[in-house]
Amino acid sequence: MNFPPDFLWGAATSAYQVEGAVAEDGRAPSIWDTFTAERGIDSGAVACDHYHRWPADADLMAGLGMNAYRFSLAWPRIVPAGTGPVNPAGLAHYDRMIDGLLERGITPVPTLYHWDLPQALEDRGGWKSRETAEAFAAYTEVCLDAFGDRVPTWLTVNEPWVVSVLGYRLGLHAPGERDLRTSVLVAHHLLLAHGLAMGRIRERRPDARAGIPLSLYPTYPASEADAEAAWGSDGYTNRWFLDPVLRGEYPADMVALFERLVGPLDFVRPGDLDVIGTRSDLLGVNYYTRRRVAAAPQDGLPWKVLRAEEGVPRTESGWEDVPGAFHDLLVRLHRDYGIPLLITENGGVWNAEPDAAGRVRDTGRAHALRRHLLALSRAMDEGARVLGYLNWSLLDNLEWAEGYAQRFGLVHVDRATQERRVKDSARYYARVIAANAVVD
Ligand code: NOJ
Repeated sequence: MNFPPDFLWGAATSAYQVEGAVAEDGRAPSIWDTFTAERGIDSGAVACDHYHRWPADADLMAGLGMNAYRFSLAWPRIVPAGTGPVNPAGLAHYDRMIDGLLERGITPVPTLYHWDLPQALEDRGGWKSRETAEAFAAYTEVCLDAFGDRVPTWLTVNEPWVVSVLGYRLGLHAPGERDLRTSVLVAHHLLLAHGLAMGRIRERRPDARAGIPLSLYPTYPASEADAEAAWGSDGYTNRWFLDPVLRGEYPADMVALFERLVGPLDFVRPGDLDVIGTRSDLLGVNYYTRRRVAAAPQDGLPWKVLRAEEGVPRTESGWEDVPGAFHDLLVRLHRDYGIPLLITENGGVWNAEPDAAGRVRDTGRAHALRRHLLALSRAMDEGARVLGYLNWSLLDNLEWAEGYAQRFGLVHVDRATQERRVKDSARYYARVIAANAVVD
């Protein structure tokens, strides 16, 4: 089967994970600069030096035939204090990059927020404060006015589940807090930020299409007796974000559960859900793996996410590699929400290094890519409307708290020299793109 003629084929990155140049041209620190320094872990100070090397990276994309690039705009470059003065040098950087992409036939697909909150806002409460959602809407206006004439597709807030749970319940991501109620509060403010930004996009760029990229985990019961637990876990991770954005309401079962666990959700104000439910044109789907769930309490929640199942293929970071779950997810999203989907991330860790001749034989990634694309095309056959596929990631980059050890890239990056090497998986992907079909 061939993909539609206007299908977007490309790859994704985010500013803090690839740019480096953290103190250049007026960029102020973000919560990830602070967090990595405090914990003494790998930081994005240099990353892939994409801030300087984007023209060569864009040449690589064009050479592979990609027609779309998902990257993120760094709030701390554009409005360094989070609110207030705009930094012209920050705007100029993305201005050049967007033009450079268009010159190469690559559609820019910017994400407005990919986790690099200006530290100045964190100092005033960060996502715990409702004002941060307002600040995000104002920053969105700046971006729309600067780039809206050349950007057809906008993505708002990347993976609010990950931000709220890893950042505020599990302490694994910036800013490193650990409290369930706080994480539910933060999730609400992130969703509100999304809704306010959608409103600004609607007003200022009625011709643009926009939506939110969510981390979605198809969730399966470990046995028949675990069905309710799996639905609960799905509610926690998937429906808590899908339902307000696409139906304008929080799922009632989860509201009841959260109120039992953390008290009244009194930070949800009248009218908020109308804002959050502002009509979206698309849903961004970040898919990596499935979950199996059993009915046993874990970490204060009434279900347990099981470890990888014996005998199921895994990526090199241990995530189950199950393309069938990707198909199930897309079909379910189409059935339950009926919205066009944009695959904003899909990929995994395979750490292959260059051989003596400089070739990177990441067979695992190429194989997984082919099987995920087959799953995608099967879901499209069954009716799912999919606008494009953006692989995570263009480059080996900073995998947040995991550092540089986990390689997600189609293109290998030598940490010492910054040399780029197109991996075997990227060569395979280029053949798919050229054929506009899943080839062998
Ligand atoms: C989700 C995030 O959006 C991205 O930043 C991260 O690197 C990938 N998934 C891989 O974990």
